[in-house]
Amino acid sequence: MLLGVLSKRVQNIDCFTFSFQSSYLISPLVFLSMSVNMKPSLLLLIFLFFLGFLTTTTARSCLAVERDALFAFGAGMNGALKRMSSWEEEEDCCKWEGVVCHPTTRHVVKLKLSERIQQHHRGQVHEINSSLLALTELNHLDLSYNYFYNVPFPKFIVHFKKLKYLNLSSSFFTGSIPLEFRNLTKLRYLDLDAALDYGQQHIDNLDWLTNLSSLKHLDISRLPLTNLTDWLLPSSLQGSLNALIMRDCDLKAIPVSSSNVNFTSLEILDIYGNNFNSTFPQWVWNVSSLTHLDLGSSGFYGTIPEAIGGLTSLTYLDLSNNSNVKGAIPRSITHLQRLELLSLQGNRLSGSLASWIVHLTSLTLADLCDNTLNGSIPTGIGKLSNLTSLYLCGNQLQGSVSEVHFENLTRLEDLDLSYNNLKISFDPNWVPPYQLASVQLMRCEIGPEIPRWLQLQTRIQILDLSDNQIAGTLPSWLWNLSSSTLQFLYLSSNQIKGKLPTFSEVSRLQELRLDTNQLEGHLDDFFSYNDSSTPVESPTQSDVVLLSLANNFLEGGIPLSICNWTRLLFLHLSNNSLTREIPYCLGESLKELETLNLACNHLFGEIPRTIGFMKKLGRLALNNNGFSGQLPSSLQNCTNLFYLDLAYNAFAGSLPAWMGESLQRLQVLHLGFNNFSGNIPQQLTQLEELEILNLSNNSFSGSLPFCMGNFTAMALTSQYWYTNRNGLFSTTKGHYIHGTPYSHYVDLVISTKGQNLHYPYDSELTKSLDFSGNSLIGEIPRGIGRLKGLHNLNLARNHLSGRIPEEIGEMESLESLDLSVNELSGNIPNSLANLNFLSYINLSYNNLVGRIPSGHQLQTLNDTSSYMGNPGLCGPPLSIECSVDPTVHEVHKMKDFEWIWLFIPMMVGFVMGFWTFCGFLFFKTEWRYAYFRGIDSYYDRILLQLHLCLARLNRQD
Ligand SMILES: *[C@@H]1O[C@H](CO)[C@@H](O)[C@H](O)[C@H]1NC(C)=O
Ligand SMILES: *[C@@H]1O[C@H](CO)[C@@H](O)[C@H](O)[C@H]1NC(C)=O
Ligand SMILES: *[C@@H]1O[C@H](CO)[C@@H](O)[C@H](O)[C@H]1NC(C)=O
Ligand SMILES: *[C@@H]1O[C@H](CO)[C@@H](O)[C@H](O)[C@H]1NC(C)=O
Repeated sequence: MLLGVLSKRVQNIDCFTFSFQSSYLISPLVFLSMSVNMKPSLLLLIFLFFLGFLTTTTARSCLAVERDALFAFGAGMNGALKRMSSWEEEEDCCKWEGVVCHPTTRHVVKLKLSERIQQHHRGQVHEINSSLLALTELNHLDLSYNYFYNVPFPKFIVHFKKLKYLNLSSSFFTGSIPLEFRNLTKLRYLDLDAALDYGQQHIDNLDWLTNLSSLKHLDISRLPLTNLTDWLLPSSLQGSLNALIMRDCDLKAIPVSSSNVNFTSLEILDIYGNNFNSTFPQWVWNVSSLTHLDLGSSGFYGTIPEAIGGLTSLTYLDLSNNSNVKGAIPRSITHLQRLELLSLQGNRLSGSLASWIVHLTSLTLADLCDNTLNGSIPTGIGKLSNLTSLYLCGNQLQGSVSEVHFENLTRLEDLDLSYNNLKISFDPNWVPPYQLASVQLMRCEIGPEIPRWLQLQTRIQILDLSDNQIAGTLPSWLWNLSSSTLQFLYLSSNQIKGKLPTFSEVSRLQELRLDTNQLEGHLDDFFSYNDSSTPVESPTQSDVVLLSLANNFLEGGIPLSICNWTRLLFLHLSNNSLTREIPYCLGESLKELETLNLACNHLFGEIPRTIGFMKKLGRLALNNNGFSGQLPSSLQNCTNLFYLDLAYNAFAGSLPAWMGESLQRLQVLHLGFNNFSGNIPQQLTQLEELEILNLSNNSFSGSLPFCMGNFTAMALTSQYWYTNRNGLFSTTKGHYIHGTPYSHYVDLVISTKGQNLHYPYDSELTKSLDFSGNSLIGEIPRGIGRLKGLHNLNLARNHLSGRIPEEIGEMESLESLDLSVNELSGNIPNSLANLNFLSYINLSYNNLVGRIPSGHQLQTLNDTSSYMGNPGLCGPPLSIECSVDPTVHEVHKMKDFEWIWLFIPMMVGFVMGFWTFCGFLFFKTEWRYAYFRGIDSYYDRILLQLHLCLARLNRQD
């Protein structure tokens, strides 16, 4: 409404000024021509001059119709557009923010509305108003990074015939790109990176690009192009294109033949993050104009060909993360004399560095981590004077590294030599020529002293000396945190001794890992406050996001002052000797916490109710402590929990139904070795993402959840990788990022195959269901056969009865099956022989009968203890032979069993009959005499019959 009124008012002013100005300007012209006697041609010239003057001055404002169009467009944004005061206050739309007009015609020619929708307004726009089409002269349209979501792709843009620049990246529109798009023949720059939302209809071809023969820059990254088989553009486009970017498109096919490839001016080719499963295409090495080539993470295999040496203009080369690229790095790579950035990380490249790297004199960044490179680091590397980043981690490099390697590397900032077979040995008095920002020297045989040259480095932000042999106490120069630039300090897995020093809140540290050392002392001393001070009023706050003091010898309670560390996301204090209760304030204060690991201490008390405030908590490990009480109902607020380990405590009470309803993200639930009781709630089977469920060694009763087959994640055979945050290295568009590595120490113990196996945090999960050691009754539900992805099933030591369901043979991934010590009866189903991965089976101490099935994998499991305690079982691996016809044996066994049923009615009949009979004898004296007279003669005959009967039975056995 307001906008409408405003635009009308502005329109009126505009008309007024125009008429006023024209009359004002034309009259002097008439006057001039009348008063001065000039040549007509000169007059015409002057006239034209004034006409030009007139148009420029009169059209000071933008065109009304275009301004209306912009208003309508803005109004269509439902208020989601960032407040831009100029759009509300300024009348001339050419002066509006993001609007550029032609200097003379005053037509709007550019619209730059990148990042105009703020995060909390995302999703509020419903469509892009086609009123924009009134901007007939538009040649530049930028709507990037507005995250529209659920807004249809604005098909009307195909009518902007003059468009040269179009940027719709990160728009996440719905729908598809119309074929008429190819009418935008003037386009020179097109960026459609994530222009469509994921999961939109697949784009099958690139016909909508066919006529765009002026195109120089084309980015169609993150579009749904999976089905595209032939994405080579028409040759008319190939000739003009400078940049072709198709990152993360999940493309499966790459043109292999060179015959229809003729890129003559392509400088940037970026197809990172696809899924080609192919060798490197030959044609790429012929595009000699390339300066930037990114073929990383795209499923290439084979070797890097010598032909790469032809790309002599390259400054950027990324072939990283194609895990099947192997062989040596071709010597021809030394021809790439302009190469500044080289990333070959995450392949299986072998050979030595010496033959080539020293010749690439322009290198500023080299990332060769995670290959199988061997040999020593050549001293010539010191000649690469422009080198700022050198990453050689995770190879098989040998020999010692000393100051001669680094003599001329004056610009070096980032160094990572971790995980090789290197020995770092510097002259203690050496003064390095560089100032490093990050130093990563994990497992480099450093120690027992920290290299002294590090003391001279005054700009270090990341220092990782984990997994060395550093001993002694923490040097004070390193722990001088208040004046240090350190942001990430990792000294895990060393032999650092002594008292844990006090932490200084004024440091810039964001991550501190001192885990797996031999530090002593009280946790209270580390947190410097004493517990009596009220943490809420305390002014200082630490910036630490990750704190790991796990695996040391720390004592004392968790001090209240930890509640000041409100930025914490990851807190690891496991494997110490901590005592007392979890502070009540922890939940209220550390609202950002994602991981709380207090496992393996001597903590006790209940889980504080305040845990419900930690809404972001994903991982909670309180196992192996002395916690007790019931689970607080506020725990159901922690809906992001995906890992919950409370095993080996004294928790009691029943398992609440909300656990299945609220904690829907759970992947790991370990409640084993507690005192939980009651029924297992059916709702638990609603946890579709659950991969590990352990309720073992509690006092659960009742039957197994009937719908056990609903555990969807256990039903899927696909191998999931447990949520893994260790993205060590990644390249993003145009930038190279070498991430900071940190892993999270949570060790999961799963008892499978008759033993306890430890699973480090980021290992692949063994999908496991363990209900052993409870008092469960009833049958094993047939639905269990649906858990085709389950690796470990343990129902041992319960009172389960009935037969083992035939469907168990459908659990095709099963590796370990333990049903021992139950009351299961009947035969062992033959379908067990279908389980090809079974490597452990225990059915001992049940009432199973009949021949043990054999064949396939079962044949190899010939441990007799798997079957002992089932007297009715026969056949290998037991030494008890089955009778010739196994069915006879079975029938006989069944007969034994049926005897009872035969016997009971017989007994009842006998008792009834006896007493009726005796009753008569008792009351009728004549009958009694008559009876006892006759019985003497019969007695011997009956006794004989009985003996004969027993003898026959014995023979049958
Ligand atoms: C696209 O161009 C073709 C011919 O060049 C024309 O027939 C068609 O109408 C145009 N489509 C649109 C939507 O402008
Ligand atoms: C590639 O294109 C250029 C000019 O655009 C042309 O001269 C050359 O013959 C073409 N080569 C092939 C193999 O088509
Ligand atoms: C090092 O970089 C500078 C620019 O920073 C450049 O002028 C020089 O040529 C480079 N040296 C080598 C050997 O490439
Ligand atoms: C659980 O969440 C609700 C809603 O956000 C909140 O009102 C309540 O205080 C929370 N409970 C606890 C114990 O944190």
